[in-house]
Amino acid sequence: MYATTVPMDSSKLELLLSLLYILLFQPSLSAAQPNFNNYYCNYNNTSNYTANSNYQRNLNSLLSSLASDTQIDYGFYNLSVGEFPDRVNAIALCRGDVAVDVCRSCVNNSTRKILQVCPNEMEAFGVYELCMIRYSNRSIFGVVDKQPSIYRANVKDVLDVVLFNQALQTLFSRLIPKAASGNSSKKFASGNQSAGVQTAYAIVQCTPDLSGTQCSSCLRRLFMFITNCCDGNALWKIGVRLITPSCNLRWEIGNFFNGTLEILPTPPPQISSPASVPPPSQGKKSNTAAVRTIVITVVPAAEL
Ligand SMILES: *[C@@H]1O[C@H](CO)[C@@H](O)[C@H](O)[C@H]1NC(C)=O
Ligand SMILES: *[C@@H]1O[C@H](CO)[C@@H](O)[C@H](O)[C@H]1NC(C)=O
Ligand SMILES: *[C@@H]1O[C@H](CO)[C@@H](O)[C@H](O)[C@H]1NC(C)=O
Ligand SMILES: *[C@@H]1O[C@H](CO)[C@@H](O)[C@H](O)[C@H]1NC(C)=O
Ligand SMILES: *[C@@H]1O[C@H](CO)[C@@H](O)[C@H](O)[C@H]1NC(C)=O
Ligand SMILES: *[C@@H]1O[C@H](CO)[C@@H](O)[C@H](O)[C@H]1NC(C)=O
Ligand SMILES: *[C@@H]1O[C@H](CO)[C@@H](O)[C@H](O)[C@H]1NC(C)=O
Ligand SMILES: *[C@@H]1O[C@H](CO)[C@@H](O)[C@H](O)[C@H]1NC(C)=O
Ligand SMILES: *[C@@H]1O[C@H](CO)[C@@H](O)[C@H](O)[C@H]1NC(C)=O
Ligand SMILES: *[C@@H]1O[C@H](CO)[C@@H](O)[C@H](O)[C@H]1NC(C)=O
Repeated sequence: MYATTVPMDSSKLELLLSLLYILLFQPSLSAAQPNFNNYYCNYNNTSNYTANSNYQRNLNSLLSSLASDTQIDYGFYNLSVGEFPDRVNAIALCRGDVAVDVCRSCVNNSTRKILQVCPNEMEAFGVYELCMIRYSNRSIFGVVDKQPSIYRANVKDVLDVVLFNQALQTLFSRLIPKAASGNSSKKFASGNQSAGVQTAYAIVQCTPDLSGTQCSSCLRRLFMFITNCCDGNALWKIGVRLITPSCNLRWEIGNFFNGTLEILPTPPPQISSPASVPPPSQGKKSNTAAVRTIVITVVPAAEL
């Protein structure tokens, strides 16, 4: 058999070209911002603002400044617009390892999405995987906000509970001071710790407007919560995220962060792993799998 070119009449060609056009360009024309993983509107019992109020004008101007900013390249945005009682304060924070263009795109998306999901709300908090945004009429800079808090844990357990538990203790006691010692542009640390056949990969982060002391106590509170939570078996899970407006932490058994890991002063002892055990899956794939099996719990205010 030989391949033959089938002559195509012009109307068929036109149809094909317009289908191709739709496939190529339609998604970008109708592209909506991705949904937040979590969001909270008026989470501290504020009321709604009225349409066309000064508050709304200030909020819109603040959000568009955030969306169009090209000066900030360290992933932390804190802005205020207006005067009391119509003053709006906002913070946006990208995960410490994301590239600048990805961060800007994430913040841009969050400024649009937050208005869609919290219309007319005086105060709001929206969380994506790579960035978060919050605004309020009250002052939020340099203040540790513990609520709302979001706890998500993978349902699967690690292979060696004792070793993994020890690895997490070691890892977080190293990462927390490191993040807290960051400057007013970034308070973030990432790292890994071997736990036998598996390896724990973790990140910790505070909004860098917090002092070092505020940051470390915020993160230590999160780790303490996890240690005491869920009959003590949260430390056995292959993936956990705990997010509050002021600080957050996460671990997985596969590498989920971008760029260089911490430089370790002394390499941790490597425990040789049996060849039969498959290595933890890496990158995006393991990430997606982790997200699918996640259970979401909103931690009651009294517990944190
Ligand atoms: C908001 O108000 C509700 C009911 O009045 C109360 O149960 C809740 O604790 C309040 N939340 C905050 C953050 O103050
Ligand atoms: C913020 O707005 C709420 C009403 O929604 C009001 O009770 C509160 O006093 C305001 N806070 C500030 C700092 O203006
Ligand atoms: C604020 O507006 C939202 C959306 O329009 C509405 O669902 C909510 O009930 C309002 N809250 C208050 C306190 O009026
Ligand atoms: C923000 O995103 C919108 C579409 O979602 C786009 O039109 C706009 O150009 C973006 N702004 C910046 C500064 O990138
Ligand atoms: C990860 O880093 C690469 C190289 O710097 C960059 O191209 C990519 O956009 C980054 N991804 C994220 C999610 O930041
Ligand atoms: C922002 O939203 C667009 C769709 O409007 C999406 O293609 C892009 O990946 C989003 N950016 C990030 C960082 O998630
Ligand atoms: C709620 O608002 C009150 C009054 O502005 C403030 O003192 C308190 O810290 C806020 N709580 C949270 C959890 O944001
Ligand atoms: C914070 O530290 C980073 C990395 O060391 C540095 O590039 C940046 O200039 C510092 N920012 C401030 C405000 O000191
Ligand atoms: C934003 O935070 C930095 C410290 O991280 C501080 O120097 C600056 O004054 C803050 N901006 C506002 C508007 O509060
Ligand atoms: C852990 O991180 C170090 C860099 O700090 C890297 O050299 C090592 O390969 C990592 N280990 C694993 C199992 O990914």
